[in-house]
Amino acid sequence: MAAGKVVKPKKNFRCSYYMSATVGLVGCLAAFLVAYVVKNFKLEPLNNPELSPLKAPKVTDLAEFDASYRDQMLWGSYRSGLYFGMRTRTPKALLFGMMWFDPDDPNTIQQLRARHDANQGDGLTTYGWKRHDGRLYGTQELVDGEYNITLSMLKSFAPESGPGGDWSVRLQLARTAGVPLRRRRISVIVYLGDEDTPREPWQVFPDGEVADLRSGPARLLSGASSAVGRGSARWAFHATEITNAMISSTRSRGCRVDYLSLGMVNSEYLLRIKELALSAMWERLQRQPSSNRFHLYLPNGASTSADLAMFQVTCLLPSAVDFAFTSSAGGSDDVGDRLGSLLGPGLGDALAAKEAEFDDRFEAIFGAGLRRQQDGESPASGAVPEGTLEVSRAALSNLLGSVGYFYGSSLVRVGGPDTKPQSYWPAPLFTAVPSRSFFPRGFLWDEGFHQLLVQKWDPQLSRDMIAHWLDLMNTKGWIPREQILGDEARTRVPTEFVVQNPSHANPPSLFLPIAKMASQLVQAGTQGSASGIDGEELARVSAFLRRAWPRLEAWYKWFNTTQTGPLPTSYRWHGRDPFTEAELNPKTLTSGLDDYPRASHPDDLERHLDLRCWMALASQAMYDIGSSLGIPGPVVALYRATAKSLSDLGQLQQLHYDKALGRFADWGTHTEDVELTTKVITVPGPNGQPQQQVISQRVTGSEPVPQFVPQYGYVSLFPLIMKLLPGGGNNPDAAEAPAGAELTLQQLQLLQDPSLLWSPYGLRSLGTTEGLYKKRNTADDPPYWRGQIWININYLVLRALSHYAAANGSEVGRVAAVAHDELRLRLLKTLVSNYHQNGYLYEQYDDETGRGVSSHPFTGWTALVTLIAAQEY
Ligand SMILES: *[C@@H]1O[C@H](CO)[C@@H](O)[C@H](O)[C@H]1NC(C)=O
Ligand SMILES: *[C@@H]1O[C@H](CO)[C@@H](O)[C@H](O)[C@H]1NC(C)=O
Ligand SMILES: *[C@@H]1O[C@H](CO)[C@@H](O)[C@H](O)[C@H]1NC(C)=O
Repeated sequence: MAAGKVVKPKKNFRCSYYMSATVGLVGCLAAFLVAYVVKNFKLEPLNNPELSPLKAPKVTDLAEFDASYRDQMLWGSYRSGLYFGMRTRTPKALLFGMMWFDPDDPNTIQQLRARHDANQGDGLTTYGWKRHDGRLYGTQELVDGEYNITLSMLKSFAPESGPGGDWSVRLQLARTAGVPLRRRRISVIVYLGDEDTPREPWQVFPDGEVADLRSGPARLLSGASSAVGRGSARWAFHATEITNAMISSTRSRGCRVDYLSLGMVNSEYLLRIKELALSAMWERLQRQPSSNRFHLYLPNGASTSADLAMFQVTCLLPSAVDFAFTSSAGGSDDVGDRLGSLLGPGLGDALAAKEAEFDDRFEAIFGAGLRRQQDGESPASGAVPEGTLEVSRAALSNLLGSVGYFYGSSLVRVGGPDTKPQSYWPAPLFTAVPSRSFFPRGFLWDEGFHQLLVQKWDPQLSRDMIAHWLDLMNTKGWIPREQILGDEARTRVPTEFVVQNPSHANPPSLFLPIAKMASQLVQAGTQGSASGIDGEELARVSAFLRRAWPRLEAWYKWFNTTQTGPLPTSYRWHGRDPFTEAELNPKTLTSGLDDYPRASHPDDLERHLDLRCWMALASQAMYDIGSSLGIPGPVVALYRATAKSLSDLGQLQQLHYDKALGRFADWGTHTEDVELTTKVITVPGPNGQPQQQVISQRVTGSEPVPQFVPQYGYVSLFPLIMKLLPGGGNNPDAAEAPAGAELTLQQLQLLQDPSLLWSPYGLRSLGTTEGLYKKRNTADDPPYWRGQIWININYLVLRALSHYAAANGSEVGRVAAVAHDELRLRLLKTLVSNYHQNGYLYEQYDDETGRGVSSHPFTGWTALVTLIAAQEY
């Protein structure tokens, strides 16, 4: 997926070895600390323009993100990489997390089998948010073999509550339907940690220790943190078991509570909380060998200087436990009244109301499009597959429920390849992420797609995320493409992939949601109002774009100067490796399409079609924004001129149209006559023993020559995708340009050729007849963008088809409409059936079987299924 995602997940640091050697907790953590320190770079600050923020007012400081907005958004399920966690949107977080395991099974220790980080290797049957509104409420189902955990989260704001308000988490712990019983109990550890120094000592069980949670709400913990208010503000954490029949399926049978609190030594303990908890339970077991039964419990100890506390709740199945976090501005510990609505039946009522509210809002925004039938040729075209509504809701909810808040610095290499990476300035990022298990962090080009969906659901939330991205721009106008901010994010990325290069681009896909905002302004300017948007909202959009303008200008300029091609109006993705002999086709990570075939021999002659089309989009958006905001004429005129020349069909064809094949293409020094061979070499192994290693080597037959790159795939579609072909809905020339329309028709025919991209399951990334279709790039690199179906590009094609379909009087319009309906239906069938059968949305779909492949859950741009179902473009 996004450039740089050639990342293999890092192996969990294993403590089991140390534990079995009875070195115990201390030894394990010491070993971990060594490992931790070794893998981190030593950094020296440097005053470099590439490491300094652009001098412009921050977009995140806009009035709409004022104190009351920040208060409301302070807490959230912002720990993207976990099955569930909450944190504050502060540089140093007050945070919450949970893990679960079988307390009676030795494998829990031997295999470190506790669930905490979302991890594909855990093999959960399914997990994900069923509903999540991005702000206040969410409910998630986690099916882990025999365990079925339903988790609901709700934030609430009472007049007495401090900044960020209160929040509740309900856990319903049950057996999975239809699975034979083996396990009788489950343990859930919930924990709170403060990355900052607590303002006063934490108190575990301030009201006296509790042995069972059935006698009403118990206060487990209280403290004070600058993350949730200064002065006398305090917080507390409570729990209760649900013992009545209110949740009929999960009437509680009794849970016990064990605990451990300690000082977390910077953040290292937090980063390895699972190992820490398991070590502590193992130690307790070792100390009490009298019992010959195997049970894991925390040792029940509290440190006087704790800033990390874990509570282990061990329950018979089924059971249900509610937790509540309360924050009090006034410093009183008495929250008696509020607990009634934060726990127990009061919480049940509130959750039911939120669920109904979510469904109503979803219906209001997406319902009509989901049901709209096309009056096209095929009678079935408008009817969506059964289960589409559920998948659409889950897709949106998972995108929102995976949104993360990160704080830290990127590592950037500003000098040559041998120079030490330097630290970018520390900054926050509030962003959606591609995948909780595999890519739980920000990716620049994915984010443009994420925001198309978020923007439709909650435009302000979307502006907040885009604002964070734009504020990461340096003085040169560059934004790092993969954001690995903070220790938690860094533990999941191997060091060699962490470093970013300030001369490398990534598609400016943020211009997709930004262009949408721009078009709202244009519409309001020409028609007096934009459809469906009230005046206040329009004012916020306008203020946002005005504040963003200097940054957008810098960003645009960075592309328009550093990524130019050899000829006027041509562009080139810089950073391809011309010297690699190991790759069948040298990768273009910067384009986002990683191993998609380009010119076989990278050089400065290359011109890249997709980048030129991205620049056409960006230029038009800049013109729209500038002219709507009344930016001085000469500046705006330049964007208009550039937009005009980039959308000029003659120039586009001259640079990128292969007349012989009738296709749009890249240009470069290329030969089709290449082959990948492998050979085995012997290298010295870690302990001096010779080791065999397979390396790949490319063999070039005939010499490369400058030419159009004859590989038909996603890149060939970009003129259509960016609506640069004549005959579309908004093009008044449609009727008078029959020659142009012929070209569009011809491209629409190519699009629907089953031997090329048109598969029964959606558009594949590369034609089956092409030389690199499904070819490995190196011995270690399986095909990635060489045939698989990707949802982001499919969405853009549908969006373009819907644009051309709007010209319903013409042949182009008719053909586009039919293609749109058919492609949409194929995609919905593929995604909906995979979700129902396999429990997930996926990174890619196989073009031969329709089966979801690669990482999952992948609810970044695959979540565009919601917009596809709703026909929102
Ligand atoms: C899990 O539990 C929920 C209710 O809490 C239920 O609706 C769902 O069907 C269960 N899922 C499975 C797979 O058992
Ligand atoms: C983009 O770059 C081209 C080539 O240098 C230049 O002609 C054009 O004016 C630039 N566009 C803008 C808006 O700066
Ligand atoms: C397309 O069809 C709609 C109704 O289906 C009609 O309102 C519109 O005017 C038509 N547009 C063109 C260009 O024919």
